[in-house]
Amino acid sequence: MRTPIIAGNWKMHKTIEEAVAFVREIRFKLNEIKGVDKVICPPFVALAPVKELLVPTDIGLGAQNMYFEEQGAYTGEISPLMLKGLCQYVILGHSERRAYFGETDEGVNRKIKAAFAHGLTPIVCVGESLEQHEAGQTEEWVSGQVRAALDGLTADQVRSLIIAYEPIWAIGTGKAATGAGANAVIGLTIRGTIADLYDQATAQAVRVQYGGSVKPNNIAEFMSQPDIDGALVGGASLKPDFVEIVRISAEVKGV
Ligand code: 13P
Repeated sequence: MRTPIIAGNWKMHKTIEEAVAFVREIRFKLNEIKGVDKVICPPFVALAPVKELLVPTDIGLGAQNMYFEEQGAYTGEISPLMLKGLCQYVILGHSERRAYFGETDEGVNRKIKAAFAHGLTPIVCVGESLEQHEAGQTEEWVSGQVRAALDGLTADQVRSLIIAYEPIWAIGTGKAATGAGANAVIGLTIRGTIADLYDQATAQAVRVQYGGSVKPNNIAEFMSQPDIDGALVGGASLKPDFVEIVRISAEVKGV
C-alpha cells in the first residue's frame, strides 16, 4: 500500500542555469511515469526557478537541509518558513551534513519537528559507517539514529515522513549495498525499531528508501525487495539516468 518514492539529491551540483536546463530536459519524461512519487532536491538557490518549471507536472520538489528556527540572527541559514510554499520535502540529517557540518541527532530531531510544524515532509537519513558495518554495529547504530530522530513525534507524523537508509560506505563509492542486505536493515532494524516505539501498523506505513550508489543497473534489485519503497539517488540524479531509474522503479513496483 506504500507508494514508492524516488528522490534525487543533487547535493552541491549545478548552477541555476544548469539546473533549469536539466529540469527542462527531463521534466515531461519524468511526468509521464506514473505509479511512483518523484522528487528532485536541487540546491537552495535553484528551488524557485525549478518550482516554476515543475508547475505543469506532478514532480515534487525538496530542499537538502533546513535550520529549525523560523527566523533570526542565524547567518547563512534557511528556515522552514522560507521553504514553506516553495517545496514539499526537505532532506534532513544526511550523513554529509552530520560528517562535515556537525549535525547531531538532537539537531536532526528538532529540524524534523520544525518541518512538520510548517507542513514540510522530512526525508530523514540514517546509516552506518564502514567501520561500524565491519564491526557488526549496524543494527545498534541505525536503531539509535531512528530512535533519536523520531523522539517526541506522533505516530501520524512518523507514518507521513520518509526515512532514507544510506550506508555511508555505499555513498558515492560505486559499491552499493545488496538488495537483501539493505532490505534486512530496513525491514528488521528500521521498521523493527518503529514497531517497538509505536506499533506494527506505523512501522508498516512509513516509507523507507535505500540510498548509496543507486544506478539504472541496480535499482531493480532494490525495488524488488519487500521493505524498500524507493531510493534517494545522488550522482545518478544529475543525469538522464534519473529518468531511467524512475522508469524501472515504476515497472518493478509502481502502484
Ligand atoms: P550516490 O547515489 O552518489 O551514492 O549518493 C547517495 C546519496 O547520498 C543520496 O543522498
